[in-house]
Amino acid sequence: MTQCGEAMAEASTGKAEAADLLAWYDRHRRDLPWRAKPGITADPYHVWLSEIMLQQTQVQAVIPYFLGFLERWPTVEALARAPRDDVLAAWAGLGYYARARRLHDCARMVADTLDGRFPETEEDLRALPGIGAYTAGAIAAIAFDRPAAAVDGNVERVMARIHRIEDPMPGAKKAVREKTLDLIPADRPGDFAQALMDLGATICTPRKPACGICPWRDACRARLAGIADDLPKSAPKKKRPHRFGLVFWLEREDGAVLFRTRPDEGLLGGMLEVPTTAWRDADWELAESLTDAPVPGSWQLLPDVVRHGFTHFTLDLRVAVLGYSGGEVEGVWHHPETFASLALPTMTRKVIKHARTARP
Ligand code: ADE
Repeated sequence: MTQCGEAMAEASTGKAEAADLLAWYDRHRRDLPWRAKPGITADPYHVWLSEIMLQQTQVQAVIPYFLGFLERWPTVEALARAPRDDVLAAWAGLGYYARARRLHDCARMVADTLDGRFPETEEDLRALPGIGAYTAGAIAAIAFDRPAAAVDGNVERVMARIHRIEDPMPGAKKAVREKTLDLIPADRPGDFAQALMDLGATICTPRKPACGICPWRDACRARLAGIADDLPKSAPKKKRPHRFGLVFWLEREDGAVLFRTRPDEGLLGGMLEVPTTAWRDADWELAESLTDAPVPGSWQLLPDVVRHGFTHFTLDLRVAVLGYSGGEVEGVWHHPETFASLALPTMTRKVIKHARTARP
């Protein structure tokens, strides 16, 4: 085939592949609460809210939060007007609290400076708080039917397989992005983006992909070579470092427990925690930690540790307990009956559970 002929074949294959995927999507699309029904225009607020929540969180975990937010704040203006603490409390459990603060900042910016309307281009979307390349692509495609690529781990996997990209990630990300852009059809880019997401989530899964029922089974070069299971390849991972801390569970006679607010910037910014030592590379002995205790006293160390995985490290927390007998303390007291309504990160909830179950 001439070079020109090859290029034409590539282009028409791309078209045929897009059509096959869209036909599959029309029959098998997942029914998700943020997804507009066929023929209905998507609501940019719904699309944006869901995409922010879906950053690093699974679909099933996001659904109740998405519905709860919409019920409470049906428009971007309503969310913008909400008190910060209410938004953080409603977000608690989704993790990554910096995302909740950026979500709120973004809502305020859209409501106050853009007349409540989200911008339509990837470039303008990226200028808003909390919106990176992936999210901008997803919103531009899904909410505004722009031919934008939303490449996350799922789409990387699908593309690496159908094009048989054997270079390891993350090095091959650029090639994946280009291949994705090449495939986007002119007429239904939003559905195409969502179809790719659904294909990656339900058929082209990390292990044991269901190649036999895949709409791209005949085009998939990795399947034809018998290596679908092995792609994408990834560069060897660095081990997640381990850190250690010791927290001080101080309990008043009436049952109230002392908490502190973490600094606004940084990990779990602005969230409540049980007072803690610094988190460092070596484990803590009780005796050496006591200079960080909220009050002096005969602190008792509980057995076992609370383990929590953050994105960049694993944290082991020891828990020391003491009944409060007076003296000045820095922090806020909360009664156990109110714990459920507080904006507590998962790490703090794990400490609470451990302190209440491991007590002698
Ligand atoms: N993951 C990220 N965005 C998504 C969406 N809109 N639908 C399903 N899964 C997703």
